Amino acid sequence: MKDNVTVLNSQYLLSAVNKNHYPIDKLSEIAFIGRSNVGKSSLINSLLRRKNLARTSQTPGKTQTINFYKVDLKILMPSAQTSDEKPSASNEKNFELRSFYMVDLPGYGYAKTSKSNRAAWSKFIVEYFLSSDQLLFVCQLIDMRHPPQDSDLNMFRWLVNHDLPVLPVATKSDKLSRSAQNNQLEIIKQAFAIPELDILPYSSVKNEGRSDLLDAIATSLLQ
Ligand code: GTP
Ligand code: MG
Repeated sequence: MKDNVTVLNSQYLLSAVNKNHYPIDKLSEIAFIGRSNVGKSSLINSLLRRKNLARTSQTPGKTQTINFYKVDLKILMPSAQTSDEKPSASNEKNFELRSFYMVDLPGYGYAKTSKSNRAAWSKFIVEYFLSSDQLLFVCQLIDMRHPPQDSDLNMFRWLVNHDLPVLPVATKSDKLSRSAQNNQLEIIKQAFAIPELDILPYSSVKNEGRSDLLDAIATSLLQ
């Protein structure tokens, strides 16, 4: 069922470079990772329908800290979805409210930054993944226009090897025709060596994939 999840509120909470800075309240988290410039910050803005909440840039390497956004969702429950045909009793509760953190991680695989900078970033990305026990799943963004790069494959394998659930999201789908999108999805599945892998195409320009991603988040929050 589409459009059964509404974003009630979203706010930037804090930026961290090590675990001492992470939020102390124990909300569920969903992390967003991908190569620099893949469209992580744009996707966060699109998902939350906020223009400039997460800062975007044409220059790779814009996000250099781990940024936490607090999001409040209203999730319509299945009984409410039939209310078109049969109005439900007046004050029956037919939705759930859930809050969680969206976590925008710095891009990996950006060649132009200094080696020491790159090492520091990957160190605190790894620290985040290894220390976060609130993490529900990781959205790994892959630019749909190109085959996955070695850094994408390494990241994916690292997450899978650490038993972290991954939802691959293929970004910038507006740049490709429908048939080119299908070809690219096959190429990603082959590269990741998982033929049945579910990959979500997303366009932050057209908000395509938005309700599917909100659904995936809501399902995971309700489990
Ligand atoms: P870093 O913070 O540097 O790691 O980058 P990022 O992954 O957060 O990427 P960002 O959202 O800043 O977007 C990078 C560039 O891609 C910007 O010029 C965006 O306008 C563009 N972009 C992002 N998403 C889309 C999309 O869905 N479609 C199109 N056509 N362009 C997009
Ligand atoms: Mg960014």
